[in-house]
Amino acid sequence: MVGVLLLLLLLPFFLYIAAPKIRKMLSSGVCTSTVQLPGKVAVVTGANTGIGKETAKELAQRGARVYLACRDIQKGELVAREIQTMTGNQQVLVRELDLADTKSIRAFAKDFLAEEKHLHILINNAGVMMCPYSKTADGFEMHMGVNHLGHFLLTHLLLEKLKESAPSRVVNVSSLAHHLGRIHFHNLQGEKFYNAGLAYCHSKLANILFTQELARRLKGSGVTTYSVHPGTVNSELVRHSPFMKWMWWLFSFFIKTPKQGAQTSLYCAITEGLEILNGHHFSDCSVAWVSAQARNETIARRLWDVSCDLLGIPMD
Ligand SMILES: NC(=O)c1ccc[n+]([C@@H]2O[C@H](COP(=O)([O-])OP(=O)(O)OC[C@H]3O[C@@H](n4cnc5c(N)ncnc54)[C@H](OP(=O)(O)O)[C@@H]3O)[C@@H](O)[C@H]2O)c1
Repeated sequence: MVGVLLLLLLLPFFLYIAAPKIRKMLSSGVCTSTVQLPGKVAVVTGANTGIGKETAKELAQRGARVYLACRDIQKGELVAREIQTMTGNQQVLVRELDLADTKSIRAFAKDFLAEEKHLHILINNAGVMMCPYSKTADGFEMHMGVNHLGHFLLTHLLLEKLKESAPSRVVNVSSLAHHLGRIHFHNLQGEKFYNAGLAYCHSKLANILFTQELARRLKGSGVTTYSVHPGTVNSELVRHSPFMKWMWWLFSFFIKTPKQGAQTSLYCAITEGLEILNGHHFSDCSVAWVSAQARNETIARRLWDVSCDLLGIPMD
């Protein structure tokens, strides 16, 4: 009995001492590239917090001009100032982008194309998870609309600029959760049945299918693309689920920090010689296995066509 009590009393102390070491052990995968990025232009979506903020910070640290594409300009400006102060790089710019509204996406792209000569790195990072059933301004289910269709349209609108700036890269932040995802073409907007957890998984599967189809279509263009699982990361992603918030809090000692979560996106965005792995999926800065669904070229091609159709853009 005394032993158990002693153990319970010592547990917080043990966690305090051991947690950083355990977290380090669980979060292998560090972007060790020494590449510097002066003269390079990068766009990071959802860069005002979490993994996106840390990704943008590191790109700025390496000298890139970085656009923080955020739906909340005030939050974005605060983060831009923080990054400018930390890195000494003043070329950190905030632009409004709401991926839940195709008008906003088109306006962002229009202004960006008018403003910038180049785009070398596009990081499609923003995401929502486990939202109660809701729709975007254009009537798309929120997960599919923001996580997949929003980034699909954004990439489409910026593609010529990426090609002109080649070698250039598109990084799509997906998730291990894609393993539970399915593309239900008859229920893409979740109108027939809906589960918030699964809706997230479906959209993350769509991220990988998009990456693979984009890679096939971009072969030889000098633009390459990669999908990423960042790890389990302590961020605001769980904001819609009290249960997940509690789980994240409980295990917060062990899961990755946002800085650790940004490593694989950075690895795919800047590591030299990665072009040969165009279209691959990465986790912990290494190529990672994806589900059978995610390797299905027929589904990828159909999802591409359906996405174009929904967004009113040409299929080729
Ligand atoms: N955290 C994890 O364990 C984990 C695991 C696997 C994959 N991921 C993926 O990693 C990516 C980043 O997530 P995170 O963990 O850093 O989550 P986060 O802290 O919640 O950051 C998500 C970002 O996306 C932005 N966003 C949400 N809806 C948007 C919209 N309609 N338009 C524009 N921006 C929008 C958010 O902006 P606001 O602040 O304005 O809401 C925020 O900046 C996501 O794609 C997520 O699926 C995360």
